[in-house]
Amino acid sequence: MKLRSRHLLGIAELEPDEIVAILDTAESFAEVGGREIKKVPALRGRTVINFFVEPSTRTRTSFEVAEKRLSADTLGITAAASSLVKGETLLDTVRNLEAMSPDFIVMRHPEPGAHELLTRICRSSVINAGDGGHEHPTQALLDAMTMRQRFGRLSGLKVVILGDIKHSRVARSNIQLLTKMGSTVVACGPPTLIPVGIEKLGAKVSYHPDAAIEDADVVMVLRMQLERMKTGYVPSLREYARLYALTPERLERARPEAIVMHPGPMNRGVEIDGGLADGPRSVILDQVTNGVAVRMAVLYLLAGGEREDAVAATGAGR
Ligand code: CP
Repeated sequence: MKLRSRHLLGIAELEPDEIVAILDTAESFAEVGGREIKKVPALRGRTVINFFVEPSTRTRTSFEVAEKRLSADTLGITAAASSLVKGETLLDTVRNLEAMSPDFIVMRHPEPGAHELLTRICRSSVINAGDGGHEHPTQALLDAMTMRQRFGRLSGLKVVILGDIKHSRVARSNIQLLTKMGSTVVACGPPTLIPVGIEKLGAKVSYHPDAAIEDADVVMVLRMQLERMKTGYVPSLREYARLYALTPERLERARPEAIVMHPGPMNRGVEIDGGLADGPRSVILDQVTNGVAVRMAVLYLLAGGEREDAVAATGAGR
């Protein structure tokens, strides 16, 4: 099957069968990362511009690795090294990038909805690599891949998303994806960091981590996004850590096979105990590994590839 849109703006626009197609295609591409020659020709001759207006380590490098593994021609541009700093508008900047005929523009931007503006002027496919506190669709897809690998399913899982929900695009994308796929999602944090109306996306709300984590299959911890907090949402980070951090004692309440996730970057000792982050129940680095395969899948499918052809595209079985 093919994706219905040529852009990936958010999980909100994806149907469950498209989510399954991306995850299945990602599983086909995951094997490429274990080869001596980590390259397939699926996007040879295609050009990808990675335009990051906000900082990133994982998403940016992961897209670049994915593009290179698909043999695309890639280049990166950051806000600080662009003419945005001279006052050029976002739309003028993108019009100029478009004039060089890229096939994809992968963008991270602090303004929610910035990508939708781009789709009005772009011939290329636009991929959202994070827009403010709105959506981070490829993060939710790589999280889903990680959960599905561990449990063999998404349906019926209890996933607790713990922390700063208010400023988190990761939470919004994950809540939408997981509820579409039949998981139960509990958004847990202090009342000041749970946005009004989050239930409309399908999440239950809890202000009590000990109760929320009871029988959870997955505890996904979110970073305290201090750079987005202009006023004090919590009395102190020490107080926050005492009441809301994921600790070994709190994790005891989850199911014995429960996994610990975090999209990164982490504030160790604030929202998560450092030992848990590095411990046997942590799949945090698996999330990063899966990010490459998921981004390969998204690029391949948006370029018109079909899930059924993904194995052939990897050259496996020849
Ligand atoms: N998870 C995530 O988006 O990390 P980066 O900000 O480092 O890309």
